[in-house]
Amino acid sequence: FATGQLAGRHVVITAGPTREAIDPVRYLSNHSSGKMGYALAEAAVEAGARVTLISGPTGLPTPERVTRIDVTSALEMLEASLAQAPQCDLFIGAAAVADYRPADYQPQKMKKGDEDTLQIALTKNPDIIAAVAQIENRPITIGFAAESEQLLEYARGKRERKGLDAIIANDISREGLGFNSDDNAVTLIDAERELALGPMSKTRLARALIAELSRYTR
Ligand code: C5P
Repeated sequence: FATGQLAGRHVVITAGPTREAIDPVRYLSNHSSGKMGYALAEAAVEAGARVTLISGPTGLPTPERVTRIDVTSALEMLEASLAQAPQCDLFIGAAAVADYRPADYQPQKMKKGDEDTLQIALTKNPDIIAAVAQIENRPITIGFAAESEQLLEYARGKRERKGLDAIIANDISREGLGFNSDDNAVTLIDAERELALGPMSKTRLARALIAELSRYTR
């Protein structure tokens, strides 16, 4: 049976980008690799948890002993997250969810027009982690904040606005760290303290983060 800091606990992690369809062949997305979320899933398994990974499209293999739910869009990720959240102890939102989706999906492939410019109207996507933080009997809810400026101030604000227990602040302006990289440096921010971790490999950082997060209780 599982031993470790998270033995007997169910951890749900969102990871990767989302894709927001414009028409059957085109979409809006971002450069998230999913590596940080997948590394957290592995570290949570090592710590003895039952782990469910809700993953947007990535090229990554499913970590051993992890249950993976594949989704494409933010709306699909929201649905899967709200289905899993009531049955978990710890929910970590590591996905890079697209902020907007095309307002009108075009069921037929769009044709090139005569104009030199094209405008696509966008609609705001729901905030998945904020929705999870609002459910009854909510899990311990942890988000990420990837910022290129005023990292800690913006991250503190996001933690409060989204109603999170803690937020992991990630400086994406640092060369070779963070987005789509193998290394990362973060600051874990909760109501009581701010803890700087790294730079180190995402694998080692994930272990350090899981060790910290396993100490939170509801
Ligand atoms: O607001 P921002 O996108 O910077 O917040 C990042 C955090 O919020 C991450 O934990 C991300 O997974 C989560 N998020 C979400 N749903 C969104 C946007 C962000 O769960 N629509």
